[in-house]
Amino acid sequence: MQAWVIGNWKQNPATSKDVNTLLDNLLVASEDRGADNPYCHLMVAPSCVHLAAVSARLQNASIQVSAQNISAHSATVGAYTGDCSAQQVADAGASWTLLGHSERRQYHHESNDSLLAKLNCAFAQGLGVVLCIGETQEEYDAKQTISVLDEQLTVVESLLQTDSVQTQALAERLIIAYEPVWAIGTGKVPTVSEVSATHQHIKQQIASFAPKSPEVTVLYGGSVNADNADSFAASAMIDGALVGGASLKADSFLAIADAFSRAKG
Ligand code: PGA
Repeated sequence: MQAWVIGNWKQNPATSKDVNTLLDNLLVASEDRGADNPYCHLMVAPSCVHLAAVSARLQNASIQVSAQNISAHSATVGAYTGDCSAQQVADAGASWTLLGHSERRQYHHESNDSLLAKLNCAFAQGLGVVLCIGETQEEYDAKQTISVLDEQLTVVESLLQTDSVQTQALAERLIIAYEPVWAIGTGKVPTVSEVSATHQHIKQQIASFAPKSPEVTVLYGGSVNADNADSFAASAMIDGALVGGASLKADSFLAIADAFSRAKG
């Protein structure tokens, strides 16, 4: 299985000029390390306003582009002020979208119902989905991680009851990113064995909904950096990383990708 290393740029960088500088650095550094890496897919998720420009610049590079969110209300067009649809982000060059990031769950109260609607919109427009799940510090301390994840994963079970994705295609169209909320942007990380056990559970849970599906890719996210990437990459249960802060510098982002390439190669 090829690893995935995905940069979640969140509400960064501040200006188009800064976006171009980051892309310049990414393109130069990825050329230096030898263009295509057969063991690791690379993807970046810029903010919606930068999506088209980033996609245009990465058109001939082996770095895919993802949106960070799409509208739940319509896959195409409509009177939904402030939203961008799956069709619009696909037209801007995205081939994937993140969904259910904990910051969206926290600040935009995203529920399983709205996530199911978004998943259906994404698949209807041919986008792949990186579905983010994870427990808060309080839930972790109360040893509720597995029950929280199981509740968040019921959206995948519901999805399989709709027509929008065939069980056989699930593993090609859906990536799960396990991101403990308390590890995001804090420098705190769970142990590799904790993450591995959690990923094993996620894979088993999805397999119980879709026994005929090939194994689903499960990424770890939360304070991944160039120094700790090797330890996560060494686990057979960790198929890659969703990277926030460290994806805003080309060197650290590509060092993380290299760690996964080496480990999975
Ligand atoms: P971080 O963010 O790498 O800065 O912790 C990860 C994420 O929120 O996806």
